[in-house]
Amino acid sequence: MAETQTGESVVGLKDDAVAALLVAESSEQLEAWRVEFLGRKGRLTTVLRGLGSLDIEQRKVAGAAANHLRVELETLFEERQQQAISTRAPAGSIDVTLPGRKSSLGGLHPSTQMIREITQAFNEMGFQTIEGPEIELERYNFDLLNIPAGHPARDKWDTIWVDSESRGDMLLRTHTSPMQARVMETSDPPVRVVVPGKCYRYESTDATHEWHFNQVEGLAVDEGITFADLKGTLYEFARRIFGASRKVRFRCDYFPFVEPGVDMSIDWNGNWIEILGAGMVHPKVLEGVGYDSSKYTGFAFGMGPERVSMLRNDINDIRHFFANDLRFLTQF
Ligand code: DAH
Repeated sequence: MAETQTGESVVGLKDDAVAALLVAESSEQLEAWRVEFLGRKGRLTTVLRGLGSLDIEQRKVAGAAANHLRVELETLFEERQQQAISTRAPAGSIDVTLPGRKSSLGGLHPSTQMIREITQAFNEMGFQTIEGPEIELERYNFDLLNIPAGHPARDKWDTIWVDSESRGDMLLRTHTSPMQARVMETSDPPVRVVVPGKCYRYESTDATHEWHFNQVEGLAVDEGITFADLKGTLYEFARRIFGASRKVRFRCDYFPFVEPGVDMSIDWNGNWIEILGAGMVHPKVLEGVGYDSSKYTGFAFGMGPERVSMLRNDINDIRHFFANDLRFLTQF
């Protein structure tokens, strides 16, 4: 074993150095290690200096071993230093004495909040909430709703068609009404559902129009459902959302999938504001999904939750809902 006059063996020195290097983590500890082992007065340097006092044969062996160890320790030191740099935050980047900051929690989007309030009002009246596809077939969006190709009513819904090589009848649903047909196709009466979801229209935007928006559709079908049920349900809805004293007005309106059709407005500071379309489900729609229209009747309605929220919260531009501006979103 190569030993110098100081009595320190190269092997023992190596063991000590490697063990100490493994536990050195901070830059201060690494520097202290460097000074202790490789520094000018360090242990390895002392070993190397002591070589001179050995006889020539011993010096050769111990010298080779000590020099080899020096290269080895320098390499290990550099590696450890690199490791420490890559796992350590840059000096001064973290002030551990700072008080903790509150993490900011997200919240529900105002449209989602309104949708939940609306659907909950209907859930409590016995309606079940379901959802449907946003990419829809022409058959459900139009044909089964008594809006055949070429029907002028198709102009009312400016459609974004889906470019597909396999079929030309796919579109982004222009309303949630297609779910009326889908629900009836897969279940027997009685049916009572509300369907919230995104709709899309190929149209230019302004303060009251967006090219994408939400709707909440409603459908109730059973034996003996009358227009009185429609009115009673929608009155109760308006009472829950707008308060007991809010005045409500029904007027005749036209939608191909209902007969008779109406729109419902509420009194807002002396102005009638239309908030939804509704009506008795058209017999052709019932027949289209295989229901016996001499036995079953029903009512349907559709509303825009953003519009309802605009009224309730005094919002003057529907585009705020989708602009992702936190100054707007955090007010809810
Ligand atoms: N789907 C209609 C629209 O987008 C709204 C609507 C009107 C839905 C009357 C209905 C209804 O269910 O009965 O404008």
